[in-house]
Amino acid sequence: MRVTIRDLSKMKARGEKIAMITAYDYTSAIIVERAGIPIILVGDSLGHVVMGYDSTVPVTMEDMIHHIKAVMRGSEKAHVVGDLPFMSYQADTAEAIRNAGRLLKEGGCQSVKLEGGRAVADTVNGITKVGIPVMGHLGLTPQAVNQLGGYRVQGRTTKAAVELIDDAKALEEAGAYAVVLEGVPKQLAQMITERLAIPTIGIGAGVNCDGQVQVFHDLLGLFDDFSPKHARKYANLSEIIQGAVSHYVSDVQEQTFPTDKESFSMKPEVVQELTGQHFETV
Ligand code: KIV
Repeated sequence: MRVTIRDLSKMKARGEKIAMITAYDYTSAIIVERAGIPIILVGDSLGHVVMGYDSTVPVTMEDMIHHIKAVMRGSEKAHVVGDLPFMSYQADTAEAIRNAGRLLKEGGCQSVKLEGGRAVADTVNGITKVGIPVMGHLGLTPQAVNQLGGYRVQGRTTKAAVELIDDAKALEEAGAYAVVLEGVPKQLAQMITERLAIPTIGIGAGVNCDGQVQVFHDLLGLFDDFSPKHARKYANLSEIIQGAVSHYVSDVQEQTFPTDKESFSMKPEVVQELTGQHFETV
């Protein structure tokens, strides 16, 4: 049985912190689940770390479905959330419901995530009413990078903080089952967490959220283009991988790979027969 949104709500009630991480493919889904992750996000951050775009804006529904399907093949127990990409839900509610439905029907995930507060509350309400759980996302909302003027911490003034609190309440009232708080001051994240019955999942929002989310590539040191302040590198895999691959390159050049251990052989009599054979060149 997979982790459900009810399980996540019970975790908040028990004060048990929720560790969420992104995954974008079969292999990483298996690894993070084995490590005990209860909730996987197939984030549109794949636009940066998998596809090499400089924002999440170009990511399409097809990109998301492709990666959600791969993650679903590797995951058995975790709750899998699929990101609705930019312009798949902003224009109108009917289109948002259809696209949320596609992530569940074609991708196979159990819930969807979308960005925004009061502006998308009706959309959240429409999607949840047809039986699709929605996770909200507030603060530094990467799909709005052009409006925000960069990847900046949000909610630092009294006015901006009150607006974010109102947005969070609106998402809860609209039926969201959880909300990501990205790039907001830790004090504000704590206030929001205390005011909501649904779990808050922080990224750059301090330790007092109900859970944390990190991007797989940031946590493992796989992505060097930039290193966000909120990320902690638990490993430096890009260095390890580069070392392993350059070792392979020199082994190939020096003919120390492959050895007999990595090769296949024929019976000596077949080799002898073949050596005595006259091959005509075509
Ligand atoms: O796309 C993503 O990975 C996200 C997280 C950073 C919350 O939205």
